[in-house]
Amino acid sequence: MASNHLSKFSFFFVTFLFFLNIFVNAAKIKENFSKEKLTHLHFYFHDLVTATKPTVVQVAAAPNSTGRVTPFGSVMIVDDLLTETPDPTSKLLGKAEGLYSSVSQSDITFLMALNFVFTEGKYNGSTISIFGKNSILSKVREMPVVGGTGMFRFARGYALAKTYVFNVTTLNAIVEYDVYVFHYN
Ligand SMILES: *[C@@H]1O[C@H](CO)[C@@H](O)[C@H](O)[C@H]1NC(C)=O
Ligand SMILES: *[C@@H]1O[C@H](CO)[C@@H](O)[C@H](O)[C@H]1NC(C)=O
Ligand SMILES: *[C@@H]1O[C@H](CO)[C@@H](O)[C@H](O)[C@H]1NC(C)=O
Ligand SMILES: *[C@@H]1O[C@H](CO)[C@@H](O)[C@H](O)[C@H]1NC(C)=O
Repeated sequence: MASNHLSKFSFFFVTFLFFLNIFVNAAKIKENFSKEKLTHLHFYFHDLVTATKPTVVQVAAAPNSTGRVTPFGSVMIVDDLLTETPDPTSKLLGKAEGLYSSVSQSDITFLMALNFVFTEGKYNGSTISIFGKNSILSKVREMPVVGGTGMFRFARGYALAKTYVFNVTTLNAIVEYDVYVFHYN
């Protein structure tokens, strides 16, 4: 009988500790995400289509897509440099890794699915994910920030992209990005 009571007691005690642990952990997690802040990031994106070391590769195209007014149906994979100034040899802040595909039959519009992977300063190792519409002939294109990792956990916000230079011969472009992001860390 006594051992039965004891085992009942230890069962409730262990259960109590289990829930206490969940409660304390939840409080700790909440502490990390209690103060939201707004950060403005500014950098230049280098899209090298024709270079000795291109950072863009076309991996798919719809039949006859090259003969069209727009490259509708083509998919490009990118690993583009993100730098502090328009000069490609300026301080490297990270990379834009992802893909874009041509999704409009009437103008040059890309669906962008990118991770900005930062490698410098306090954001080293953190990422911001972008998913949006990029009509490259428009002066300013707005794309949503759909999430992030590391310092950018729970990120939300928007990115504004402006073409800084586009070379019609080489098709290489430098694009200025302003990213406004709410996050906690
Ligand atoms: C809370 O922040 C600390 C310090 O940055 C970190 O070590 C810990 O993993 C974070 N916890 C969660 C749940 O994000
Ligand atoms: C591609 O274009 C050629 C010439 O215009 C045409 O004969 C062919 O049917 C087209 N193919 C497709 C899949 O649209
Ligand atoms: C960024 O982090 C990586 C991995 O922790 C480290 O190897 C690298 O030196 C860091 N870069 C800078 C610029 O701090
Ligand atoms: C475009 O690139 C070509 C080849 O590198 C170069 O000769 C030309 O000056 C560039 N045009 C502009 C406007 O930068």
